[in-house]
Amino acid sequence: MSRIAYINGRYLPRSAAKVSVEDRGFQFADGVYEVCEVRGGRLIDERRHMARLDRSLNELRIARPMSPAALAIVLRETVRLNRVRDGIVYLQITRGEARRDFAFPPGGTTPSMVAMARSTDVVGLEQLAADGIAVVTVPDIRWSRVDIKSVALLPNVLAKQAARDRDAREAWLVDAHGRVTEGASSNAWIVSRDGKLITHPLGRDILAGITRSVVIDVLKVQGLAFEERAFSVEEAYAAREAFVTSASQTVLPVVSIDGRPVGNGAPGLVAGALRRDYHRHAEIA
Ligand code: PDD
Repeated sequence: MSRIAYINGRYLPRSAAKVSVEDRGFQFADGVYEVCEVRGGRLIDERRHMARLDRSLNELRIARPMSPAALAIVLRETVRLNRVRDGIVYLQITRGEARRDFAFPPGGTTPSMVAMARSTDVVGLEQLAADGIAVVTVPDIRWSRVDIKSVALLPNVLAKQAARDRDAREAWLVDAHGRVTEGASSNAWIVSRDGKLITHPLGRDILAGITRSVVIDVLKVQGLAFEERAFSVEEAYAAREAFVTSASQTVLPVVSIDGRPVGNGAPGLVAGALRRDYHRHAEIA
């Protein structure tokens, strides 16, 4: 089955779905994206992802290419045409195609929009969750507006490759004060020795993860102690548990940081429970 992508009004086989060499996403990374989990063929936490997309577009003054209702249809059609039951749907919007010039193109330039969907290896992901993942720390060298979900991801690419080179699955990004901001493509969490869940507060230095926000709702409902504050690499080394959150993986336990075992080196109970319960709390549309 050839895979299908949505591109600027058409559903095309992937091999025919091409963007222009003058697309501003290609030339300047002048665009934003979203990744939404698909489970049982349905979109998870779509409302929150679409709200974040709107915010990213507004912050960069990129026009919305279509109404929210039309966008919802495109996402579903992309999932359906690719026969994805469990996986992700990817959406990218750029400022469009225009003669190369740094400043914004003339008013009326149409934004480009692309959507793709793909299946997850569910068995592999469950095995990863059962085993736990290794993370390594690297300096956070990103720009100062990473709250915008822009496609400018080169520092994240380099961080992820640094993790790969050291046989780890994720990189944790460390700011100038020695504190973990977030993962290369996930939010970072620890559980302290006294059982408190800790994750970096929202601001311009992390992405406001949708999975993070759902997990916080769960913690509030269950009355679990949590703190939104920056934690240091040393605190992470000493933590009882650690985990990451992202739409494509929900909650994944971290069992080692820079080669040092977290807690007893096995996936933690808190991360396990949050993973198990996640979809009872997520919005399924
Ligand atoms: N990554 N932080 C960063 C830097 C991310 O790229 C992501 C998501 C997250 C988690 O956000 P959410 O819970 O909304 O997925 C945090 C996506 C999955 C990606 O780029 O593939």
